[in-house]
Amino acid sequence: MIYKLSTILRYSTLSSHPMARRKRTKKIVKNLKVHGIADKGMAVARDEEGLVYFVKGAVPGDEIDMLVLRKKKGFQTGIVNDFISYSSKRIVPVCEHFGLCGGCKWQNLSYPDQLHFKQENVNAAITRIAKLNDDIIEPIIGSKLTTFYRNKLEYSFSTKRWLTDEQIHSDATDLQKPALGFHAPGTFDKIIDVNKCHLQDDKSNKIRNWFRAYANEKNLSYYDIKGHNGFFRNLIVRNTTLGEWMINIVLGENQKEEILAICKKLIVDFPFITTLFYTVNKKVNDTILDQDVICYHGPGFIKEKLGDLTFKIGPKSFFQTNSTQAKVLYDNVVSFANLKGTENVYDLYTGTGSIALYLAAHCKKVVGIESVKEAINDAHYNKELNGITNADFLVGDVKDVLTPTFKDKYGHPDVIVTDPPRAGMHKDVVETLLELKAKKIVYVSCNPATQARDLLLLSALYDVTRIQPVDMFPHTSHIESIALLELQA
Ligand SMILES: C[S@@+](CC[C@H](N)C(=O)[O-])C[C@H]1O[C@@H](n2cnc3c(N)ncnc32)[C@H](O)[C@@H]1O
Repeated sequence: MIYKLSTILRYSTLSSHPMARRKRTKKIVKNLKVHGIADKGMAVARDEEGLVYFVKGAVPGDEIDMLVLRKKKGFQTGIVNDFISYSSKRIVPVCEHFGLCGGCKWQNLSYPDQLHFKQENVNAAITRIAKLNDDIIEPIIGSKLTTFYRNKLEYSFSTKRWLTDEQIHSDATDLQKPALGFHAPGTFDKIIDVNKCHLQDDKSNKIRNWFRAYANEKNLSYYDIKGHNGFFRNLIVRNTTLGEWMINIVLGENQKEEILAICKKLIVDFPFITTLFYTVNKKVNDTILDQDVICYHGPGFIKEKLGDLTFKIGPKSFFQTNSTQAKVLYDNVVSFANLKGTENVYDLYTGTGSIALYLAAHCKKVVGIESVKEAINDAHYNKELNGITNADFLVGDVKDVLTPTFKDKYGHPDVIVTDPPRAGMHKDVVETLLELKAKKIVYVSCNPATQARDLLLLSALYDVTRIQPVDMFPHTSHIESIALLELQA
């Protein structure tokens, strides 16, 4: 079976959608040919007049009738009402949770097809938003690993399990069970109970399932996301290609004896765990960035190797989640920057300083800027660890740190590397870059649309000469894209 319409209807929010409640006449758009993929697992279709439709439940190549759920200026979103024909591109997803879990929405497309559609998305952003010619775009670089490629997963415990339609309509009487796994798409309190996930090394599955068994055996409670009570809350599992494992058990209640007993048994049962933390988080939100993370076992970090460099990753540090492909990404940044050893480089949104440190061997000096203090602490540590003496790191919002006088202290930049979050660069940062007039900018982005928006602004002074899409996240719509900008003569 490749497709469950009932499942898609179940999690499509159809029943809770205001249009459904008001009993408006259903609008069905007939005979749409689906041709592309978009964010959040939506497929894209266009009608004969060129109107755009984002549809849940279809893949490129399907012909469908779409039930419209929302109309916006210029596009409509909805779900498949009927299939006229199925795409020949459909394949059987490898994961038993496919269709419910939001993690790997394109597992029903072959990997070469996924890459094809990701490339099209970069091309569309570059041509339509940045108004550039697509001949500057290189063929996408695919990920060597397409399963078990992530080095970090965050699981949630919840008193509320997400139920499938089949379960709801079954005679089973034991459905009000807690769950340990991932949030169901579009819900904040319902969790899909995960048995096997194909994103992180299988040891991650074993650890997660151990917690389920342990909680059952000891009758320990799961977190009630609405009531804000309950013991087990989140489980963060990180690993590296060096075989190091870091676990952070996040609890909603401070039952010290119980917590210590869990930690003790966990490292006996999983001796490969190199660092074990626990965190008591009684706040309403899940973030642990502002919480005390207590180290029970190990050095308090894991190490990852990218090329010749070793990186320390702490419990609050950002690190690229596909390590193998991160090296490919950084090698392409080095190639675009084409440093001769004499340059002064800025690395904006530096995280744990990984790009800056990767470039240090190729330039005279580099300065990285990042807003998360703990990540900058790691960057300093990583600098020492790798014996690097020509890198500096500063904490703060790039828009505040990169003032017009910044260059007086840190030197005029020859090359700027920028790797902002999905929202892209703040417009003040773009303006500062235009004022700085570095010879080259290498713009790394996880969102081709905001990258293209910023490229259009930077085109006032720069020629965008190359774009290299890199796939870091197989089976998702995410795509990384590196752009090379060269200052106009
Ligand atoms: C896409 S990550 C890039 C990290 C790093 N370049 C790497 O390859 O690992 C974006 C980083 O920007 C940081 N960040 C987000 N907004 C920021 C801001 N306004 N100023 C400085 N850093 C910011 C995030 O904490 C995150 O570490």
